[in-house]
Amino acid sequence: MYICLCNAITDHDIRRAAADGVRHFAELQSRTGCSDCCGCCEAEARSTLDAAVAQVALDLPILVAA
Ligand code: FES
Repeated sequence: MYICLCNAITDHDIRRAAADGVRHFAELQSRTGCSDCCGCCEAEARSTLDAAVAQVALDLPILVAA
């Protein structure tokens, strides 16, 4: 699904960016150009990134002290 129509950024693009290490909206904008035009997509893009970052965090291995 397109999140940013101005720059053709999809929810998949945002999830992939999160998987590649993007943690902050400014980083997402820098890497993808998302929300750097009209800005109409900012709330949805932020929400999608936050959910993606949370998902990435859940997939991390749990470190246990020996
Ligand atoms: S829809 Fe994303 S900047 Fe316009």
